[in-house]
Amino acid sequence: MRVLKVALTGPNGQLGSEIRRYAPPEAELVPLARDALDVTNTEQAESVITGLRPDYIINTAAYVRVDDAEDEAQKVFRVNALGARNLALASEKTGATLVHISTDYVFDGGKKPVPYNENDAPNPLNTYGISKYAGELFVRNFAGRHYILRLASLYGKAGASGKGGNFVYTVLGKARRGEPLRVVDDIYMSPTSAADAAREIWSLITEKVKPSGLYHAANSGVCSWYEFAVSIVRRAGLPVNVEPVSHTDYKTRARRPLWSPLESTKGIKLRRWEEALKDFIAELATPGGP
Ligand SMILES: NC(=O)c1ccc[n+]([C@@H]2O[C@H](COP(=O)([O-])OP(=O)(O)OC[C@H]3O[C@@H](n4cnc5c(N)ncnc54)[C@H](OP(=O)(O)O)[C@@H]3O)[C@@H](O)[C@H]2O)c1
Repeated sequence: MRVLKVALTGPNGQLGSEIRRYAPPEAELVPLARDALDVTNTEQAESVITGLRPDYIINTAAYVRVDDAEDEAQKVFRVNALGARNLALASEKTGATLVHISTDYVFDGGKKPVPYNENDAPNPLNTYGISKYAGELFVRNFAGRHYILRLASLYGKAGASGKGGNFVYTVLGKARRGEPLRVVDDIYMSPTSAADAAREIWSLITEKVKPSGLYHAANSGVCSWYEFAVSIVRRAGLPVNVEPVSHTDYKTRARRPLWSPLESTKGIKLRRWEEALKDFIAELATPGGP
């Protein structure tokens, strides 16, 4: 069995920790936390990747605080755009395949009756989305062999370190504390399990059949944040009321697409979001769960 050397940025983040958890036996995973490789540092990115000579680089490092991003554009661009550029250049130089993670927030949510696929034109509405789209362009045009994987509305055991959690934890926390749950019912997306996304990334790497390029990799199906919240409390057996509100009653600093579900026309098919949520809630309930 040939060992695949895989360098992973953001190994302690929500997605990165699931990628570590599901690493297959044939992968020699090299976790590169920020102190080992700050993706904004061009020279360090080049020297670390040149020194390691990995077969793959998985880049999950990102600035993910969508509202704060509006006040920290330079910082956001350094991580999400320049960081992607640095790894793209390093991958090109060393021959490593770059697996770069992007987002549904590259879309503007302009009314579509069906989820966005890989052929739809991006038009990000906020600083985070624009920086992530810039990162995609650097990878597409500067990296050698690469996969750009767009994920959406992630939740995982670790919670997004950059966001201090995720939507599932927020809903469960409020429900358990008896706090009111008011959730927007007019923004639609594809909630995605970080564990499922991590397994898909490993399939892509180990099966080696998909050509270089852009892929959508969200759990199947569409729901509003309200429907997602209702499913979370029901699955967790919490008898609480969720109140639907409009996004117009819930002002945020960053504009968000009102519709950003994803699907793939290139053969990526994750299971339905309800199935993934069921497993996640069950895992939380098991001893040793978070
Ligand atoms: N969360 C979502 O809802 C969502 C939705 C769609 C797509 N995505 C994408 O999915 C990917 C993973 O997101 P996530 O939810 O796992 O976020 P996360 O938990 O915040 O993880 C991001 C990681 O990036 C690291 N990082 C930040 N700046 C860095 C730098 N300059 N150099 C090296 N590492 C750095 C962070 O390390 P520290 O711990 O040191 O800060 C953190 O571990 C990102 O590309 C994100 O854009 C996320």
